Amino acid sequence: MAMSISNIFLSIFTIASLVFSPVLSICDAPSPAFQIPDYDNHGPLLDFTSAKISEAIISLSQRMEYNKTSFSVDVTSQTRGLFEIHHTAKIRSSIRRGAEEINNVTNYRIASITKPFTVLALLQLDKADKLDLDAPVLNYIDELNTPQKGSLPWKDITIRALASQMAGIPRDLAQVDLVTQPDLAAQLGLPRIDKAHGPTCDSLANYTRACNATDLLSYAKTLRPIFAPNQKSSYSNINYDLLGLVIANVSGTSYEDYVTTHILQEIGMNGSSFTTPPDSVAAIPAGIEYYWPFEIGVQNPTGGLYSSSSDMSRFLRYVLSTYNAQATGVNWFNPASFSGSINTFYGMPWEMYRKRTNEIVPELVTTKPLTFITKGGGMPGYTSNIIMIPEHGLGITILVAGNGDAMSEMREIIVSELVDFAERAAAAELKAKYAGTYESTNSSITLKHSMRMACS
Ligand SMILES: *[C@@H]1O[C@H](CO)[C@@H](O)[C@H](O)[C@H]1NC(C)=O
Ligand SMILES: *[C@@H]1O[C@H](CO)[C@@H](O)[C@H](O)[C@H]1NC(C)=O
Ligand SMILES: *[C@@H]1O[C@H](CO)[C@@H](O)[C@H](O)[C@H]1NC(C)=O
Ligand SMILES: *[C@@H]1O[C@H](CO)[C@@H](O)[C@H](O)[C@H]1NC(C)=O
Ligand SMILES: *[C@@H]1O[C@H](CO)[C@@H](O)[C@H](O)[C@H]1NC(C)=O
Ligand SMILES: *[C@@H]1O[C@H](CO)[C@@H](O)[C@H](O)[C@H]1NC(C)=O
Ligand SMILES: *[C@@H]1O[C@H](CO)[C@@H](O)[C@H](O)[C@H]1NC(C)=O
Repeated sequence: MAMSISNIFLSIFTIASLVFSPVLSICDAPSPAFQIPDYDNHGPLLDFTSAKISEAIISLSQRMEYNKTSFSVDVTSQTRGLFEIHHTAKIRSSIRRGAEEINNVTNYRIASITKPFTVLALLQLDKADKLDLDAPVLNYIDELNTPQKGSLPWKDITIRALASQMAGIPRDLAQVDLVTQPDLAAQLGLPRIDKAHGPTCDSLANYTRACNATDLLSYAKTLRPIFAPNQKSSYSNINYDLLGLVIANVSGTSYEDYVTTHILQEIGMNGSSFTTPPDSVAAIPAGIEYYWPFEIGVQNPTGGLYSSSSDMSRFLRYVLSTYNAQATGVNWFNPASFSGSINTFYGMPWEMYRKRTNEIVPELVTTKPLTFITKGGGMPGYTSNIIMIPEHGLGITILVAGNGDAMSEMREIIVSELVDFAERAAAAELKAKYAGTYESTNSSITLKHSMRMACS
């Protein structure tokens, strides 16, 4: 067989890397390296850490660009809340004020953080043998078996492919996509899009009513794939809209009722709902008030939940304690595919990233990888993030109403301080529990602990 030029380069490269592999190999420290610490034993260090984070975040909130921004931060271990920080915007809406003071029960729109609830429902229903994650979606939605104008290969699109963003289905039904914002498209110099070609519900039609299952299915049946199923990942809200219909069908109740009864009530999230909460507990950003009560109908499974920081912390404690026990053969924290950048991955529906510990906190020296299991959410006026660090047994909730630029800065501050804290707490606990000299009749051994895990 003739060898193409690129094959030759490939084989030279392969040989070179075999020959030089001892030099090229990177020595990784093991992960996990410590047991999850019992944070109750580290009060002073925890107080120091929470004070440092609080000071940095409150100082950030004083900046002019955040004068209409409110937020809630809650940090939890697997067993209890560790600390929380709340901030009420300096400038409030005069049209719709919302809660007088932001606190642990203040509701935000958590938007796409609804997706983990949708997946949890699927995992429960899989465990109860009411559905099979690896069965095609058309087994559960009859309408997808009828003739379509589009060409999505429904028989090859499984529930798992939808949940892990591997279905190849376009992104949106009636929000966000440029095609649903004809005026914006025209402003950008693109040809004006005829409104008649888009969905007639939700934002395209200048919100008159929420989209329903008829709108979703008739639209889905006009779509073409962006790639074949299970080839690679691409974020799609339509995937989750469809999963909501699957849950409704196999559970015999509405999606919202299923999640409310089997998840929110089970976990004790009684301050969370799919219906708009009273203004007295609402974080409503000045200037973007209109989005607070917006019903999204059939799109609820992709982004309809309202929740508070204390309820999200309950959810994170639950997930951190059960992620590998939801359904047989499923570790909910494993990635399903690569995403665009070098160290990011998609799970169901997690957005995961891995970094070396010393890239987050240089002083810690150790190169062991840390895995962050996250989900972000965004709607006009609302930006939210949940972050779990299973190796440390920590969960972080950050909910922002107002200027979402606050999110990335807050996340950096919180994550780096917490990793520093958790690594030091874990090492101290390891030292207290195991370091020392162990003696037997004719022999002895001395164990020491070290933050640095180099290999030689
Ligand atoms: C709030 O911030 C804006 C700029 O983001 C500024 O123009 C305005 O003066 C500020 N208002 C107050 C009361 O600080
Ligand atoms: C619901 O799912 C079942 C399979 O569990 C299927 O037989 C039924 O046709 C589905 N119903 C609808 C309305 O899609
Ligand atoms: C959207 O609806 C509002 C109120 O119904 C109306 O004032 C506005 O002109 C509409 N905008 C467009 C672009 O149709
Ligand atoms: C969705 O809304 C349209 C327009 O109001 C209606 O004709 C249709 O029956 C609705 N479908 C469902 C499933 O409620
Ligand atoms: C949630 O439950 C707590 C006690 O368990 C109660 O104090 C609180 O009022 C409830 N909140 C809502 C919104 O029902
Ligand atoms: C909110 O915080 C207060 C005071 O710390 C606490 O008593 C209450 O139980 C918390 N509420 C929820 C819903 O966790
Ligand atoms: C310990 O060493 C002594 C003397 O060398 C020997 O007699 C004895 O059997 C050893 N005991 C054990 C448990 O190895």
